[in-house]
Parts: sequence; C-alpha cells; structure tokens
Amino acid sequence: MPAIELDGLTFQYRGESEPAIDDVSLTVERGEFLGIAGETGVGKTTLLKSICGIIPFQEAGTREGSVVVDSKRVIDAESVDQLAPTVSMILQNPESQLFNLRVFDEIIWGPENLEMDREEIVRRGEEAMELFGLEGFGDRITYNLSGGEKQKVAIASVYAMNPDIILLDEPTSQLDPIGTEMVFDAIDRLVDEGVTIVMVEHKIEELAEYADRIALLEDGSVTRLDETRSFFTDTTVEHARPQVTQLGMQLNETGVADVDVPLTQDEAVVEYDALLGEP
Ligand SMILES: Nc1ncnc2c1ncn2[C@@H]1O[C@H](COP(=O)(O)OP(=O)(O)O)[C@@H](O)[C@H]1O
Ligand SMILES: [Mg+2]
Repeated sequence: MPAIELDGLTFQYRGESEPAIDDVSLTVERGEFLGIAGETGVGKTTLLKSICGIIPFQEAGTREGSVVVDSKRVIDAESVDQLAPTVSMILQNPESQLFNLRVFDEIIWGPENLEMDREEIVRRGEEAMELFGLEGFGDRITYNLSGGEKQKVAIASVYAMNPDIILLDEPTSQLDPIGTEMVFDAIDRLVDEGVTIVMVEHKIEELAEYADRIALLEDGSVTRLDETRSFFTDTTVEHARPQVTQLGMQLNETGVADVDVPLTQDEAVVEYDALLGEP
C-alpha cells in the first residue's frame, strides 16, 4: 500500500488559462524520500498542495484526477487540518505558517490541537527543538526570528505532530550550510523511522545525497522520474548535477579517465583519490 498515489492529477487555478499541473501520475512508497526538481513556475508547489489538501480545500480552481494518501482519497477529507496527522506540508514561506507568539507554543500547537497527552506533547516538542537545533529558543518571539530560524521552527512544528508523510517546499532556502545540513540530517532520521518525505529542493548536492528518487517537473508535467543515481548520471537528463558528478561524467566522456561517477562528496573523495594515486 503506497503512501501517495496520484492518478491523472490536473489542477487549474481559477482565472488562469492553463493548468498549473497537467495529468500527473506518480506513486510514492512508504518510507521513501522523493525529491522534486524543476524550474520556477513549473507546478512544484501546486503538486505538494494537492497532496496535503490545500488543493482543493483552500485554493479555488478546477481539479481532475485523483490523489490518494494513506489509502484515502484526499477529496473525501473534511479539511486540511483533518489530514494533518497523516500528511503535513511545510510551506515555502514559513512566515505564513507561524501563528504563535513564542517558539515552544508554536512547536506544540499541532500536537495540542490533536489532543495528544500533555506529557507526550512536551516530550515531543523538546525532542523537535533538539533535532532542529532550536535549544534555548523556546521563549523567543517567533516574529523576531531570522528567515532560517523560522524555517526550522516550521519544520519542527510539523515534526512534533508526528505525521506519516511530510511535504517540504524548499525548506532550506533561507538556511546557511550548517542549518541546511542539520535539516537534512533530521529528515534522514525521519526517513529511517519510516516517515515518507516529498521535498521540493534546489540544492542538488543534498538531493543527490539523501533522496531515493527524483521527479523532474516541466511545464506542469513529470518528465522524468528516476532513482537518484540514474537521474543525475543519465546524460539524457537535462538538469543541473552535483559538481562531482558533472566532473566524473566529463572525465569519462572525454576519455581522460574511466571513473565510477560519484554522486556525493564522500564518493568523490574515494574515487578521485584513487584516480590521483593518493600515496
Ligand atoms: N494561487 C494561484 N493563483 C493563480 N495562479 C497560480 C497560483 N499559484 C501558482 N499559480 C501559477 O501556477 C503555476 C505553477 O506555480 P507553482 O506551483 O507555484 O510553481 P513552482 O512551485 O514550481 O514555482 C505558475 O504559472 C503560477 O503562476
Ligand atoms: Mg514553488
């Protein structure tokens, strides 16, 4: 039983002349990390919103096809909130997702609404703060946080609700390399725990390292959907690659060397050290 099944999903925003996503079909397995790549305006955010129920419950437009999450049709739910314990989305702009004055209240807001046991709520909230490097932030005013800190709070508050499926829309866009690493490490732990992740992300190095598969969106359609290594090493995929991958492919293509094309920094160190005959 897959975590997410999209079948012929099309959505056109009210007032627009063309659909933002057009006939998208794809399946995401439980515990999988699916990365979504693509240029601005191709429909990535629209796709995520359709999975968590923001579409159709909070956006006007026409929708065709079906979205089944955790074996239930999204359209049969009553609201986005009702779906939240199953599937929750971290929006591209975290500001629009923060409602509480103080960080800890924000983080436990979801679990409180789910009426989880109080001790469990506090435990989960503290765990979320630690996981996302927010220790000591509990009493800070959410509005005064930096963009990156807001992103971490938004992710931590979704984590605290313990959903089966988490959708993230460019979650590290305002984070520095250390913050980015922290978020990806935390996501990696969630994947280990069996949580399903769908993430829109422009940082290809991180996608290459952590995602199981990558879907490429172009003009509202999924034009490629491949296991991550195949996606980044296939010469017919026209998308940016990690630098180490690009280098390996060029070395092979030009006949300068014959390397196992690396996908990550760690693989690159091993492969290129061997090539250079490290003493
Ligand atoms: N609320 C909206 N109303 C009308 N058109 C929208 C709305 N949100 C997005 N769009 C349009 O839908 C298309 C896809 O947008 P979006 O899903 O945000 O793409 P991406 O996340 O890949 O940048 C774009 O042409 C965008 O202008
Ligand atoms: Mg977007």
